[in-house]
Amino acid sequence: MQFSTTTSAPARARAGCALVPVLGAKLCGDAAKAIDEANGGRLSRLLGSGDLAKKAGSTLSTHLDGTIARVVLASFGEGKQATEKAYIDTVRAAYKAAGQFAAADALSMLHDVAVDSRDLAWKLRVQMLTARDVAYRFEQMKSEPEPKPPRPGRVALALERADAGAAAREIERAGAIANGVDFAKDLGNLPANVCTPTYLADAAKKLAREHGLKCEVLDEKQMQALKMGALLAVARGSSQPPKLIVLRYQGAGAKKPPVVLVGKGVTFDSGGISLKPAPEMDEMKFDMCGAASVLGTMRAVAEMKAKVNLVVVVPSTENMPGGRATKPGDVVTTMSGKTVEILNTDAEGRLILCDALEYARRFSPAAVVDVATLTGACVIALGHHHSGLFSPDDALADELQAAGRDVADTCWRMPLDEAYQEQLKSPFADVANIGGRPAGSVTAACFLARFARDYDWAHLDIAGTAWRSGVNNKGSSGRPVPLLTRFVLARAGGA
Ligand code: BES
Ligand code: MN
Ligand code: ZN
Repeated sequence: MQFSTTTSAPARARAGCALVPVLGAKLCGDAAKAIDEANGGRLSRLLGSGDLAKKAGSTLSTHLDGTIARVVLASFGEGKQATEKAYIDTVRAAYKAAGQFAAADALSMLHDVAVDSRDLAWKLRVQMLTARDVAYRFEQMKSEPEPKPPRPGRVALALERADAGAAAREIERAGAIANGVDFAKDLGNLPANVCTPTYLADAAKKLAREHGLKCEVLDEKQMQALKMGALLAVARGSSQPPKLIVLRYQGAGAKKPPVVLVGKGVTFDSGGISLKPAPEMDEMKFDMCGAASVLGTMRAVAEMKAKVNLVVVVPSTENMPGGRATKPGDVVTTMSGKTVEILNTDAEGRLILCDALEYARRFSPAAVVDVATLTGACVIALGHHHSGLFSPDDALADELQAAGRDVADTCWRMPLDEAYQEQLKSPFADVANIGGRPAGSVTAACFLARFARDYDWAHLDIAGTAWRSGVNNKGSSGRPVPLLTRFVLARAGGA
């Protein structure tokens, strides 16, 4: 889906389809009114019929006779302006409705509706990300892909002349973010028999070639040399070799400390000896969505040529049972020297992350953010709306929350105080890898906090946001690529 801007008079515009905003049963903006006039008041008569429900997200589609062949009227609700949620929901509904038409191109005026305290840049950015999300298809594993491309293939955003320059820059950036989201979705949606740690490493190498990045992939021997006992303990049960992937992008001076993003790359999580139950176990192919999101963010940042230094670290392995697999009660020594009693082999994410967090110290980072489908408990706590945000650092937490709101990819801050650390006591090692049922996502973050030394650190638990379930829209969401990219961009002084 290609986006462009247009400043020509909407009444004379040509388009297969127009996307027109409606608020409280009235057309929004001068462009919509001009199109209505050019069509002899057809749109206002249609609204007068009451066929378009006022509820946000309702749409009404029809054919016109002029240079604009079709129209989707989209209701953003009632009142003087739309809420952020109404804007996002309605934009989604409008693009879905447009996709029902055979129109190859569209002219959108949806951003002419006023949204709470949000500016035009936000509306354009969120509209593009939403439209690209609607248009996304994953057909790599089908023997006969859908012959028709998703429609509309081209979208012109109708703008006032004064806004066009700034908007063009925003569109370029949102396009790069959407490409990063698609990249992350593809990796997430691939089945675990294809997307192995080796496949992820190869995808990272390809990304490095295409975008001029430095890529280094550590194998099992090198992990042993680094004494990454926790990562290696998770990999033991699998016949797929583990990989530690490191990608580096230099967009600022060589001495500038980088932002480091660490992504959990468990390409399949069976639970190991602490085997998961069968229902929905297939969804554990998504347990590498943290990895996919940091790689997608790297893609977006590199495409934008942001003036920032960025390092991505991905510890990747399968978590499988087997004769050599780690057993409950085993004690391992992590790269940091701390020992861990592995009481449950299904709490494997924190084990691979603790060695990656220790490894991250060598980059003298400005900040480290790890991203992981870490706990089912986070889904219970927050559902599927917000990612869980954990950080001892208020300023960093604020930055991440603001970045999320700026791109409609939000996170919600959770506690991380000392009091919870007690739940991780072990009689046999320095720390246990589980802390019991209460506050499961918090104790997982507390485990990680012990290893995030010498730098500013935050942890995002994306177990509830990284993918969608249910046959109809099952698949990777590409979150939190928008949040992370926006965060990195703001660090570059460019947001
Ligand atoms: N990958 C899972 C977390 C997960 C579960 C994400 C369900 C999304 C949906 C993680 O490795 C895991 O198994 N966590 C355990 C931790 C427990 C053993 C302390 C969990 O959440 O049950
Ligand atoms: Mn697990
Ligand atoms: Zn897992």
